[in-house]
Amino acid sequence: MAPRLGSAPVDRTPALLRDPYRFISRRCRRRGTEAFTTRLLLEPTVCVTGPEAAAVFQDPRHFTRQDAAPGRIVETLFGRGGVQGLDGAAHRRRKHLFVSLMSQQRVAELAALTERELDRAAQDWRGRERVVLYDEFRAVLTRAVCTWAGVPLPRADAARRTDQITALFDDAGRVGPRHWRSRRSRRSADRWAADVVGRIRAGRIAPPAETAAYVVAWHRDHNGELLDERVAGVELLNVVRPVVAVSVYLAFAAHALHRHPHWIRGLADQGPDGGDGAADPAELFAQEVRRLYPFFPMAAARARHDMVLCGRRVRRGQRVLLDLYGINHDPRLWEAPEEFRPERFREHRPGPYDFVPQGAGYPDIHHRCPGEPITVALIAAVARRLAGMRYAVPQQDTTVDMRRLPALPRSGCVIRVPPERP
Ligand code: HEM
Repeated sequence: MAPRLGSAPVDRTPALLRDPYRFISRRCRRRGTEAFTTRLLLEPTVCVTGPEAAAVFQDPRHFTRQDAAPGRIVETLFGRGGVQGLDGAAHRRRKHLFVSLMSQQRVAELAALTERELDRAAQDWRGRERVVLYDEFRAVLTRAVCTWAGVPLPRADAARRTDQITALFDDAGRVGPRHWRSRRSRRSADRWAADVVGRIRAGRIAPPAETAAYVVAWHRDHNGELLDERVAGVELLNVVRPVVAVSVYLAFAAHALHRHPHWIRGLADQGPDGGDGAADPAELFAQEVRRLYPFFPMAAARARHDMVLCGRRVRRGQRVLLDLYGINHDPRLWEAPEEFRPERFREHRPGPYDFVPQGAGYPDIHHRCPGEPITVALIAAVARRLAGMRYAVPQQDTTVDMRRLPALPRSGCVIRVPPERP
């Protein structure tokens, strides 16, 4: 039971904000349980961890996403009317749109565009004392994903759009002025993306049929209707925004290479198939970056009916939080979970509910992220590129700020690149 002050249970939101990634797992471990009830954002909330809880949490017969995410996240990170808040037939149909964009060929094209943009950016890094990789990756990914998705991005607008898209994921979880900047960015980005959809429908621009912009503009919902222009814009940003957010993992990939330099050889020496038909080392590396490093601490849903989950009573309509970070670090599932060991993925292919950096279950029928193939491909491609580059890592604070949402190495990962040799 949550402790009480007089008759009002204490709200634990401040404790959650102090340690968002470990809030659930630490309490569960202390109590020897997989679930507990507490008060968060002024509501009684059930927090759960472990693969069994994850399987029930993702099951649409038991949980709905309607009204599940806090309003401050919907107004910034998600946008109103997007796939994240849909259920049932409407969700399946809308979700198909995203899954259809992730063919092997299209994922490889995005990785190739990203490598090209990265190589271009790296030309400018030569001779620079201070290159903040997180900032560079955000810019590289914005240019690459806009080209890939069929979204026009004039050169003069690139820096502004990069910052605007970044604010949607990087400032959403903050309090005060940064959060309000995220809301303003959401309004401008929504207008921008809706305008792209409007121009496609009016025949004023014609991106190729395989691009996200085209697919979203002409997508028909489960009722046979085109999406409202504003909602279509939100969905287009549901592709563009998270690709730019992969920059967080790319900064972590640089961090991991710095902390485990033997992987520089491991990645630079081998081609995409590991040279001998074995698992691609860059892919193992990417999976371990996603497992070890923090991104989303948890996912939220509401119970469709009264139930008992991991021994706790859950009431219909009650908010339940699933511990994504904690499951990836659960010592019952992962040997030495705090160590960076990419080779663990060589021996162990995780199931749908025990490796959940981007949600649990199956992406086509559940709310699990459809963008995992892109995320893995981009981390692998950029890690390989970094491993083949000459640079120095100057003194800096590389500790990971676990209070930040999303967490990030404090310095943003600074490198120094030598001038070109004559
Ligand atoms: C959903 C994480 C990259 C598109 C999600 C969810 C998480 C997540 C935790 C929610 C799962 C749930 O509610 O059960 C991440 C992380 C990424 C990433 C950490 C890498 C930085 C991507 C990419 C795309 C994408 C590259 C698309 C190109 C989406 C969409 C949803 C989603 C559309 C909503 C799915 C639904 O509600 O059915 N992601 N994601 N994400 N992600 Fe990602």
